[in-house]
Amino acid sequence: MIKVSGLTKDYGARRALDKLSFDAQQGEIVGFLGPNGAGKTTTMRILTGYMPPTDGTAIVAGYDVVEESIEVRKRVGYLPETVPLYTDMAVFDYLKFMGELRHIPNVDDRVDEVLEMVGLLERADGYIGNLSKGMRQRVGLAQALLHRPEVLILDEPTIGLDPGQVVEVRELIREIGKERTVLLSTHILNEAQNICDRVLIINKGKIITEDTTENLQARLIGGERVMLRVRGESDELAATLKQIKGVQSVEIQEEGAVEFSFASGKDMRPEVAKQVIKAGYDLLELRPVGMSLEEIFLELTGADNKK
Ligand SMILES: Nc1ncnc2c1ncn2[C@@H]1O[C@H](COP(=O)(O)OP(=O)(O)OP(=O)(O)O)[C@@H](O)[C@H]1O
Ligand SMILES: [Mg+2]
Repeated sequence: MIKVSGLTKDYGARRALDKLSFDAQQGEIVGFLGPNGAGKTTTMRILTGYMPPTDGTAIVAGYDVVEESIEVRKRVGYLPETVPLYTDMAVFDYLKFMGELRHIPNVDDRVDEVLEMVGLLERADGYIGNLSKGMRQRVGLAQALLHRPEVLILDEPTIGLDPGQVVEVRELIREIGKERTVLLSTHILNEAQNICDRVLIINKGKIITEDTTENLQARLIGGERVMLRVRGESDELAATLKQIKGVQSVEIQEEGAVEFSFASGKDMRPEVAKQVIKAGYDLLELRPVGMSLEEIFLELTGADNKK
C-alpha cells in the first residue's frame, strides 16, 4: 500500500514536486507516466526513504517514509533509475551480500530463485562488470525482489532490455503485482498500457490525470486514428478521403501516406479501403496509429504546454 498526500519537493529554487497526492493498493500495478523532468524519480526516491520531501506525507507499507524509513526500507524493493552495482563482484556473490544485509534466511536458495526469475541463472558466477546493460538491469531487479517486498518501486524497469526481455520482465511484474503493490515509471504509453492497472500521468511535478488504462485510452483518443498508405499522390489522396463521410482531420504525412481519424465505434476502415481502391489507388497499408505521449500531453494540458 502506498498513500501520498500533498507531496512537495524543492531542489533549491526549483519545485520538482508540487502537492502530489495518490495512492496504490495491494494487488495493484500503478504506472507513473511522464516526460523527462516530470518528477517520477524524485517521487520514487522519497517513497523509498532515500530523500525527505520538503512538504507533505507518504505512507508506504503502513509506515511513514520520513519518521519510519527503516521500516519502510524493509518492506520495499527498489529498482533505481541507475542501478548502483559492484562491478568487481560476481552476480551471485553480490545478491548474496545484499541478501545477508537484509537477513534473508536460506539466502543461497533465495538468490538462485530470483536469478531464475530474471533469467540470469547462467551468469550467476560471472562478474557484474562483464554483463551487458540489460543484464545489469536484471540484476537490479533481482536485488529488488530478493526480500519478497510488500511494495515494489521500479524506476523504468524495462529500459535497456531487448524486446524478448521486455516481454519477460513485464510478465514478471504482472505476476508480482497480483499480490503486492507495484509502482513503476515509464515514458512509454504503450508500456503503461501493457502492464498497469491504473496510470498516473505526471508533468512538471503535478498529476495531470489519473485513470485506468482502458478509460485513459478511450478518453484520450476519443476516436480512432488510422494511417493510410497508397502508391500515388498524397494531395489527391487527401482530397479523396475528405469526401468520405465520417472521415475527420485528414493530414498528409509523406508522399503516398495520409493520416485520418473517425469517431470511435464507427470503424471507417472498410469504407475507406473500398473508396481508395475505387479511386484507382494501389492500397499498401491501412493501420491504426496510437497517440504519442507528446500528443497526449498537448491534449491534456491544452495551450498551457504549447510553448
Ligand atoms: N539532485 C537534484 N538536484 C537538483 N534538481 C534536481 C535533482 N534531481 C532532480 N532534479 C530536478 O527535479 C525535476 C524532476 O526530476 P526527476 O529526476 O524526478 O524527473 P523524472 O520524471 O524522473 O525524469 P526522467 O524521465 O528524465 O527520469 C527536474 O527538473 C530535475 O532537473
Ligand atoms: Mg527519472
